[in-house]
Amino acid sequence: MLLEALRLKDFRNLRDVELSPHQRFNLFTGQNGQGKTNLLEAIYLLSAVKSFRSQATNRNLIGHGRDQAELFARVDRGGHVRDVGIEIGERGKRITLNGQTVRNVADFFGTLNVVIFGPDDIGVLKGSPSERRRFIDRAIFNARPAYGTEATHFEEVLKNRNALLKEERVDGGLLSIYDDQLVEWGAQILRRRLDFIDHFRPVLKRTFRSIFGDGFEAEIGYQAEWADQDLSTENVEEALRDALSRTRQEERHRGYTLVGPHRDDLRTELDGHDLRAFGSQGQTRAFILAMKIAEITYLEERYRFAPILLLDDVSSELDRERNRQLFAFLRDRAIGQVFITTTHRDHILLEEDLRHYQVVDGEVRDG
Ligand SMILES: Nc1ncnc2c1ncn2[C@@H]1O[C@H](COP(=O)(O)OP(=O)(O)OP(=O)(O)O)[C@@H](O)[C@H]1O
Ligand SMILES: [Mg+2]
Repeated sequence: MLLEALRLKDFRNLRDVELSPHQRFNLFTGQNGQGKTNLLEAIYLLSAVKSFRSQATNRNLIGHGRDQAELFARVDRGGHVRDVGIEIGERGKRITLNGQTVRNVADFFGTLNVVIFGPDDIGVLKGSPSERRRFIDRAIFNARPAYGTEATHFEEVLKNRNALLKEERVDGGLLSIYDDQLVEWGAQILRRRLDFIDHFRPVLKRTFRSIFGDGFEAEIGYQAEWADQDLSTENVEEALRDALSRTRQEERHRGYTLVGPHRDDLRTELDGHDLRAFGSQGQTRAFILAMKIAEITYLEERYRFAPILLLDDVSSELDRERNRQLFAFLRDRAIGQVFITTTHRDHILLEEDLRHYQVVDGEVRDG
């Protein structure tokens, strides 16, 4: 997968950017607040439509004093070239593929696949469960765009069901309809996640060992506190039904849904110890680095495509040895386009197959 051309207009502080990226490494150097992360955010949007930043309303994405932002990319996927466009107005986004408006975003997903690794990811393992759910959901979505629609169905059911549970008199008939929908879509999400963990787990263990030697054993697992049995792709529906009937009273009392994939977490362990509770800073960073590398390797091995990798200023968050491992991995992986931002050129251990840009006050120049 290759980003052959990128054009941006009035996207945040990037007023007018036009690039023909290198097919391997693209390095963006600049001081703080110049527009480096904004550039990666634009590429990410061209893949996922939504931003990775939490405060990214349409208004915030549009350059100050402008009324529209325009993003454009030419993407080559195994010789198949497509033009991707997003126009962002305050009222919404318009997506185009080869100049034609896309009515259903589901048709658009999968055109461009990116994996991003940035300073926020370093906190994923110590942060709230929702951040770890986001990691796993994003990884599945990258491999199977239809997962996005499934997740939307589930969120819709959850919203309706929660609203009903908050009502003074809960309509039993309606609740049982929502229960069925919750089981149907919840089970689908759970099957996808369990299947992902099944395939991802050995890749992660192998990656961790190859980077950090045989000394440490990494482990990852899916955690669903509401289930009173070990979940498998075969028993998720039954487990959801059981849990729903067990928590009926409490759900009415609390007024929201206590059972389902929206409550779940990832358990990560190093040498048998829970990383969330016992991991040092360095161990946590090493683990998340291995998770990111495993995510890419998983996509390459299982789905046979190399996603575009966006590395936002990660070198400053990794110690010297971890940083060396990261670049060794990137160089050894003979294929794959990478966009890297940094404030310090000397953090970036790459000399070949490289195009270098400077980012200064929203302008991107060859450097
Ligand atoms: N909608 C917008 N219009 C204009 N400027 C914006 C908009 N949104 C953000 N900015 C500006 O973009 C700049 C931040 O850009 P960005 O986050 O890409 O910086 P960076 O180069 O990654 O910096 P750092 O090295 O600190 O991470 C800030 O100056 C911010 O004010
Ligand atoms: Mg930044």
